[in-house]
Amino acid sequence: MAGTGPSGPGAGPRQRARPAPRPSRLEPAGKPPRSPRTPNPIRGQGANRGAARPSGPGGAPHPVRSNKTASAASAPAGPGRGVCPEPRVSRGWAVAPGAVLRPASLPAQEPLRSERPPPARQVCHLSWSGRLLLPSLGHRADRVRLSATMLLQRAMIPRFRQACRLKLVPSRFCIQACSTNDSSQLQYPSLAFSGDNSSTKGWRVMGTLLGLGAVLAYHDHRCRAAQESPHLYTREEVRAHSSPETRIWVTLGCEVFDVTEFVDLHPGGPSKLMLAAGGPLEPFWALYAVHNQPHVRELLAQYKVGELSPEDKEPFTLKTSDPYSDDPVRHPALKVNSQRPFNAEPPPELLTENYITPNPIFFTRNHLPVPNLDPETYRLHVVGPPEGQSLSLSLNDLYQFPKHEITVTLQCAGNRRSEMTRFKEVKGLEWNTGAISTARWAGARLCDVLAKAGHQLCETEAHVCFEGLDSDPTGTAYGASIPLARAMDPEAEVLLAYEMNGQPLPRDHGFPVRVVVPGVVGARHVKWLGKVSVEPEESYSHWQRRDYKGFSPSVDWDTVDFDSAPSIQELPVQSAITEPKDGETVQSGEVTIKGYAWSGGGRAVVRVDVSLDGGLTWQVAELDGEEPRPRKAWAWRLWQLQASVPAGKKELNIVCKAVDDSYNVQPDTVAPIWNLRGVLSNAWHRVHVRVAP
Ligand code: MTE
Repeated sequence: MAGTGPSGPGAGPRQRARPAPRPSRLEPAGKPPRSPRTPNPIRGQGANRGAARPSGPGGAPHPVRSNKTASAASAPAGPGRGVCPEPRVSRGWAVAPGAVLRPASLPAQEPLRSERPPPARQVCHLSWSGRLLLPSLGHRADRVRLSATMLLQRAMIPRFRQACRLKLVPSRFCIQACSTNDSSQLQYPSLAFSGDNSSTKGWRVMGTLLGLGAVLAYHDHRCRAAQESPHLYTREEVRAHSSPETRIWVTLGCEVFDVTEFVDLHPGGPSKLMLAAGGPLEPFWALYAVHNQPHVRELLAQYKVGELSPEDKEPFTLKTSDPYSDDPVRHPALKVNSQRPFNAEPPPELLTENYITPNPIFFTRNHLPVPNLDPETYRLHVVGPPEGQSLSLSLNDLYQFPKHEITVTLQCAGNRRSEMTRFKEVKGLEWNTGAISTARWAGARLCDVLAKAGHQLCETEAHVCFEGLDSDPTGTAYGASIPLARAMDPEAEVLLAYEMNGQPLPRDHGFPVRVVVPGVVGARHVKWLGKVSVEPEESYSHWQRRDYKGFSPSVDWDTVDFDSAPSIQELPVQSAITEPKDGETVQSGEVTIKGYAWSGGGRAVVRVDVSLDGGLTWQVAELDGEEPRPRKAWAWRLWQLQASVPAGKKELNIVCKAVDDSYNVQPDTVAPIWNLRGVLSNAWHRVHVRVAP
């Protein structure tokens, strides 16, 4: 067993793996490279003694990784020319240290194997639909041979070694295919022996068959050994492999895979697979069910390098001493802005993938630990007016009100705060463009519940105050309020929601009941709702009175007077680019630009303008998504533009801006809207990309 001493039934106990070995493609599937201590049965005991094998992060460079490495391995090496000082790859073969690269019977004028350009060796992949993909072979794809053929050729090893004194390790036998520019005759000239006669030929055939049998038996033995005694890795070790430099590892169940070579071939695009780098695939496969097919698992099996160590096979749980220990497990695709309390946003490439944001990647904005509420004992307390009645509503009671379902976009007041910070420091979490998401919410209308308690619209100012069941160590709960007029207006469609995208609310999003206030800043959509009351004044909550307010750029923390500014309710018009990403390189010719646009108060987005030259010239993007109802455009529009990249352009300054049906527009820069809390950040969104030459 590679890296664990002599293999086979009865091999030694499982060992913790060496840190971060770089598995070779040429090793049998499921095995990292052989450790220096491991004798190679094919080469014979001690054949690799003293070999300079990579031994972890600080080890020698991997022998098979890049073309560069392969060419380097095949370059003439001075006095030792033709002698391989280290295990390495020539023409897709792993060559043992000390192997003589010139076969004994090779004519002098015949170029050395190691002197020819390295062949295009590629792994063929199946697309999700089962189609065979031959990545980047292009016109060089002269021939594609399955590894079975390779194996047959390698069955000649004993005879071949005798003739060539070339030492080889067996390649893995799997769904791997090779492509070379050369014919096999050219590749193995030493197989044609001069002076042969028929009796020696017979012995040779016999020898070849015996060799084939030995190789197959050895391969089978190694495969079984790999299953019986795989390399073990901790989750932490897997996490350390999350970039091309460290190599890209993922887990599925308790198995560990090195998918570095597959990233560029991922049918959903490299960036999607990179989201899982260093972690489990399951959360992503749950989002994209197309992966749950046997051929996808078979494809993945090629990249197996080991298994999770026993202590890491259990799902990760938080420690109980921590007030956040009971927080739910989150989706790893979320970009975490703060772990405690948990605040995270979906990455741009996933944000506009779907019109409705899947629950697991809906942005999360928590100020406190997530309460763990029992739906059986849950009660919503609705304070009635003096002449009415207070209600204590169970979930079942809420289900008795007419069920109302609407698509609503939620946006945090701090969305895109990082752009304000870049201009001048602000206090707050560094949200990028993802503190916004869209869901289909269902529940009872707030106006129906308030009416049941005896509330009605009044002439005097009044506010509906909400209290969450999440609280800080002093028992202070999260709270917020909206004007009674909005709450009582059936057209405003304010919900006491118990469903999100057809599911009970996830814990992070307010299970079992939250407020959804269409067209209004996220801060008023109180989660884990415990109490509703109608008051003559706004909520006294810190988050209503001392936060989520806008100020002049001239106001700083010494001069700010929170009472002087109204609390944010309806948000201004907003838009952002989600594709391409800032700093990306795009292809010349055509570029696809995607994003979202939304406006508060039910105002519909009527247009999105996009510029490729920083705002000098504009094109109108195409709007997708639900057609808005008049004055009830609660949800965003996704948009896209297919634009020609002007010839000769080396970079693009892509800009977007939206216009709503009140002809509100976004400001072109951050400076005039900068404020000390970094809220209401809706300047033109700008993305700078390079154009591939
Ligand atoms: N409700 C409670 N009880 N506690 C909170 O921390 N955060 C608010 C709001 N409701 C919050 C809350 C803020 S600031 C926002 S932006 C939204 O919830 C975020 O909702 P989400 O986490 O479901 O996306």
